[in-house]
Amino acid sequence: MVKQTGTAKLSFGDTDLELPMYSPTMGPDVIDIGKLYAKGGVFTHDPGFTSTSSCESAITFIDGDKGELLYRGYPIEQLAEKSHYLEVCYLLLYGELPNAEELENFENRVTRHTMVHEQLTVFFSGYRRDAHPMATMVGVVGALSAFYHDSLDINDYQQREIAAVRMIAKVPTIAAMAYKYSIGQPFVYPKNALDYASNFLYMCFSVPAEEYEVNPILARAMDRIFTLHADHEQNASTSTVRLAGSSQANPFACIAAGIACLWGPAHGGANQAALEMLKEIGSVDRIPEYVARAKDKNDPFRLMGFGHRVYKNFDPRAKVMKESADEVLELLGIENNPTLQVAKELERIALEDEYFIEKKLYPNVDFYSGIILEAMGFPTSMFTPIFALSRTVGWISQWKEMLGDPALKIGRPRQLYTGEPRRDYVDVENR
Ligand code: ACO
Repeated sequence: MVKQTGTAKLSFGDTDLELPMYSPTMGPDVIDIGKLYAKGGVFTHDPGFTSTSSCESAITFIDGDKGELLYRGYPIEQLAEKSHYLEVCYLLLYGELPNAEELENFENRVTRHTMVHEQLTVFFSGYRRDAHPMATMVGVVGALSAFYHDSLDINDYQQREIAAVRMIAKVPTIAAMAYKYSIGQPFVYPKNALDYASNFLYMCFSVPAEEYEVNPILARAMDRIFTLHADHEQNASTSTVRLAGSSQANPFACIAAGIACLWGPAHGGANQAALEMLKEIGSVDRIPEYVARAKDKNDPFRLMGFGHRVYKNFDPRAKVMKESADEVLELLGIENNPTLQVAKELERIALEDEYFIEKKLYPNVDFYSGIILEAMGFPTSMFTPIFALSRTVGWISQWKEMLGDPALKIGRPRQLYTGEPRRDYVDVENR
């Protein structure tokens, strides 16, 4: 527990309270209101948690005003350039960059768990082929708890470790299987000689009838997408995982809950929505029409891939992603890609527009990621599953951190009740 560094005074009615304050390593001070109800008989009200810290965490830090994202203190730009996803996984899970031996051990452990129980393949055939892969993933990842009984005891450190490694290893296999199932192709077993990103591309794009060679530049771009999405402090899906985990639910069930939350278009589903929007706009001359719609209070339309609850300057991940989009399209010889042109022009126009400037709306990570993923050959429906597989390590790291916290309590928010006061039941003939 952090040490108290100050006191906040709160007065209402006849009550004067002193509440402890804490100073984080970075970010604003916090006022601890945990005893507010016991001492003052009132709740605080903050729907959407815009001013509320829900936990203590040492994993990821975002400075939304500076446009900075740090994993365990390391800037995302440095990790995207110099590190790779499995090293980042180790960093997120254990707090420090691994030495060469630690990294090799960790990579071996993850690689040895990439296959899924053969009986899990039967689950897929219960789904319609046209099911969204996220629908399949929510179900199949949840079903892991029915297969790996030796890693369900959350009070056993070793079992928590195995569950973490299993999920980092198996969620890509499941995402690739969901894709293969949706296009009617046979599942491709993982190939453990390949690195993590290459293996995912291999499981998605190879077929048993032909040799398939993974393009190392595309694998690098894939790895970078995984790294950029690996964690993002207490966002909606991570908070969902923590809330589910606070009831001592098993790890697979918690991650399935995170996947369900990530699916929404205001969160992980935005990358699919962003590309669909860019395609709908179609050409640069139609941009003003869409910008006008985004600004119109009577039109629910929003520019997808724009805006963020925390980043009010720019999203550092979007910068790396934009560079990556250029690299990948050049490599694939897709010059003058109309979607990329619309994206760049839309960004330029929106960033000069008073509405977007005033509301501090900038492209987020999802604005360019869809362009890269589409160029690699993924359909839009796979964008959110790829986000889910990248974020699995973040969810698991936050879940492990939470379980290690001696102050852990079941998450149970209070409410501002606006319904009917107590009333008596009326028999149906008298209503
Ligand atoms: N286009 C147009 N206007 C927008 C947009 C947008 N993309 N985003 C926010 N605004 C406007 C809102 O209409 C609102 O205007 P008002 O103050 O006049 O009512 C104001 O900006 C603030 O918007 P909120 O929804 O209150 O901001 P919040 O922090 O709750 O929402 C969110 C953040 C959900 C990301 C929002 O910006 C959005 O819906 N963006 C589009 C979806 C998207 O790209 N999501 C991905 C997020 S990143 C991720 O999950 C990886």
